[in-house]
Amino acid sequence: MERFRRRRRRDAPDPTALVAEHLEAGRPTGWFEPLYARADGDAGAIPWAHQTAHPYVVDWLDDPVVEVPGRRAVVVGCGLGDDAAELARRGFSVVAFDVSPTAVDWARRRFRRADVDWRVADLLDLPDDLVGAFDLVVEVRTVQSLPGVVRDAAMHAIGTLTGPGGVVVAVTLVAGSNEVAKAWQGPPWAQAPSELAAYRAAGLERVALEHPDPDERGVMEVRLTLQRPPAGGTEGGLPGGGLPGGGLPIIPTG
Ligand SMILES: C[S@@+](CC[C@H](N)C(=O)[O-])C[C@H]1O[C@@H](n2cnc3c(N)ncnc32)[C@H](O)[C@@H]1O
Repeated sequence: MERFRRRRRRDAPDPTALVAEHLEAGRPTGWFEPLYARADGDAGAIPWAHQTAHPYVVDWLDDPVVEVPGRRAVVVGCGLGDDAAELARRGFSVVAFDVSPTAVDWARRRFRRADVDWRVADLLDLPDDLVGAFDLVVEVRTVQSLPGVVRDAAMHAIGTLTGPGGVVVAVTLVAGSNEVAKAWQGPPWAQAPSELAAYRAAGLERVALEHPDPDERGVMEVRLTLQRPPAGGTEGGLPGGGLPGGGLPIIPTG
């Protein structure tokens, strides 16, 4: 259960003031670049930097819930690059992008030997060549780092990265109830359980969802596997044809 708890590093500077300044100015993603830049190469100053691939991603790759139809992978909001490097190590052809040029440069320097196409790009304004181009999309805690006004658009954009049959593996903070989500002060912002339906609206079918019980704050880290139906329908793609609906609780892990 401990691996579900990857909270903000206690030693990292509190980004609240920086975030507030950018949100007030109408720049929901504007705070990432200054946060990375002011860290000046010290990963300890990045609240989410654990400098390892996310354990869910590793578990998923060790035992994929659904077979990935090919080897083209993209990492959304790649940060310091650990998930992208892990995918490349396993033989995927990887594009990894982040809105922060400093993060992308930092990741590239950390993983000089990794065969990754590192890019500065905005999920909310995707370059055309990324749309529909991937068999596997990995999104770890990017959506939860965005305020509510852009989260639906972010989830929709994640969906557009997949080609037919493409799979999305997502890790995100979810509130145990809509009330907790409403009262929650981000970042990260705990998503309301009902929000995950945005993936369905983007044409993705939910294949699996795992989460622990909500913690003492009423939130939990959710791991989600989704798939765009293969061309010609879901036959042969989703196990059991996927799971219906966009609501939440399915598989509490023990
Ligand atoms: C909470 S961090 C997670 C980073 C990384 N996935 C990890 O787990 O360590 C969110 C990341 O998403 C990036 N990001 C936020 N909004 C983005 C956007 N619209 N397009 C691309 N990257 C974005 C941020 O710069 C940041 O690196």
